[in-house]
Amino acid sequence: MQQNYELLSQLRAEALLGGGEKRIEDQHRKGKLTARERVTLLVDEGTFEEFDMFVRHRSSEFGLEKNRPLGDGVVTGSGKVNGRLVFVFSQDFTVFGGSLSEAHAEKIVKVMEMAMKVGAPLIGLNDSGGARIQEGVVSLGGYADIFLLNTLASGVIPQISAILGPCAGGAVYSPAITDFVWMVEGTSYMFVTGPNVVKTVTHEEITSEELGGADTHASKSGVAHFASANELECIEGIRMLLSYLPQNNKEKPPAIASTDSADRLCEKLSSIIPENANQPYDMKLVIEEIADAESFLEVHKDFAPNIIVGFARLNGKPIGIVANQPMSLAGVLDIDASVKAARFVRFCDAFNVPLVVFEDVPGFLPGTDQEWRGIIRHGAKLLYAFAEATVPKVTVITRKAYGGAYDVMNSKHIRGDFNYAWPSAEIAVMGAKGAVEIIFKKEISEDGDPIKREEALIESYKSKFATPFAAAERGYIDDVIEPAETRIRLIRALQTLSTKVDTNPWKKHGNIPL
Ligand code: HXC
Repeated sequence: MQQNYELLSQLRAEALLGGGEKRIEDQHRKGKLTARERVTLLVDEGTFEEFDMFVRHRSSEFGLEKNRPLGDGVVTGSGKVNGRLVFVFSQDFTVFGGSLSEAHAEKIVKVMEMAMKVGAPLIGLNDSGGARIQEGVVSLGGYADIFLLNTLASGVIPQISAILGPCAGGAVYSPAITDFVWMVEGTSYMFVTGPNVVKTVTHEEITSEELGGADTHASKSGVAHFASANELECIEGIRMLLSYLPQNNKEKPPAIASTDSADRLCEKLSSIIPENANQPYDMKLVIEEIADAESFLEVHKDFAPNIIVGFARLNGKPIGIVANQPMSLAGVLDIDASVKAARFVRFCDAFNVPLVVFEDVPGFLPGTDQEWRGIIRHGAKLLYAFAEATVPKVTVITRKAYGGAYDVMNSKHIRGDFNYAWPSAEIAVMGAKGAVEIIFKKEISEDGDPIKREEALIESYKSKFATPFAAAERGYIDDVIEPAETRIRLIRALQTLSTKVDTNPWKKHGNIPL
């Protein structure tokens, strides 16, 4: 018996060292933390419960039987983040480059299954050379087991992936299925095939960083929702992100006591809309003014900046914000903006996060590039996502709500619960100039002074249609509100909707236009 106690301490000490001192030093030299240091930073002090510390691989190919490190390259378990339970796996690059073996995959699958049964978020800290090459197809099977569970857990528990090293080949697909991907500049990368294969196949010369680094995925591809300068910021960021999310799809997101008054007027908003409708203003200022102070956490900040998505709090309660950004491409909806916002809306709907929409949209982006790449089906994703969402949904039209984009951006017709407009709202099929040139084409060309005539027609069109009142007359807009009152009205609206119940017809699942 005494022998076993001694063996236990000895094995624990061995397991804590992973691939050994030298490899830990190498990891630090690359500016990376070890798997265990990351877990320690992620969870509240003293809360980590480790599973499967004594698991070893069972492979005997290529001399592997002589090297069977404890834990097999991944640290798994549960812990608390700000007092709330989470499950975590953290790949250990010091053991076979964090590569995924059969046993390594079984450990990850075990925490995933536990997270689903218990109903708590899963956080994957990825740092791996991919499938353990010596184990062949067995490690591919292990990946597929993880992909299946990622898919089954989708919409059941929040899943967050941090990419803290290489993530190549099929291994990128587990993070891609999860809800949020967080990368670190300079030390993490994701690609289906690395620079060498790219060079052979397409003759492009490119570095790992350019091909699949944090900047690339946070701004060009949209694969990463967040990018941080270092691992510390990344892990701190994940802790912050979790504070907006419920534990699972049956719970509401956690409210906190707000220090920002629910009766606060937003006076700055009274003068934020420029006189000239073609002049931009920063929608982020609108969001920051209305939300609880310092509560806005932007998601996908550098990708498709013509639409803003992110979490914030109103009177201490988390909300998901979707807002057109007039500062970028006039806030037009293009393919990337539609897909970005659609995925965010679906996340919020799956996890009971009420949606607040700020709308200033001139329409969908015209042109062959967008049409040929399928703006129709991509734009339809956003329409579908808003239409199927049953969480509380509130819209504030600040200025333009033109054409199809009016319908798409959580209009009354697709079950917006409260739809408000500022007096500056222009709700119309299209902008005044375009409209007049189509419907009065004949009159304009016949007139002696076409420019003067057109101007008069534009003015008349504007007074009739470029206002919120035609929509309000029909009840498409529930109220026209003073910009300064927006925070107060939104807080009240969400309070009213806090017991909202709405359902969709029974179906196995819908067929969103992917
Ligand atoms: C086994 C691996 C490994 C792997 C790295 N190692 N990747 N062992 N299987 N996939 C080992 C190395 O042999 C080395 O062991 C140690 O980890 C550290 O690796 P280094 O190469 O020294 O580190 P570094 O220079 O930082 O390079 C890291 C790397 C590189 C870029 C990840 O190791 C690499 O390219 N690995 C192979 C990547 C890959 O092609 N994986 C398969 C992808 S396909 P020693 O003992 O020498 O220190 C895939 C299919 C998934 O994953 C399919 C799912 C559908």
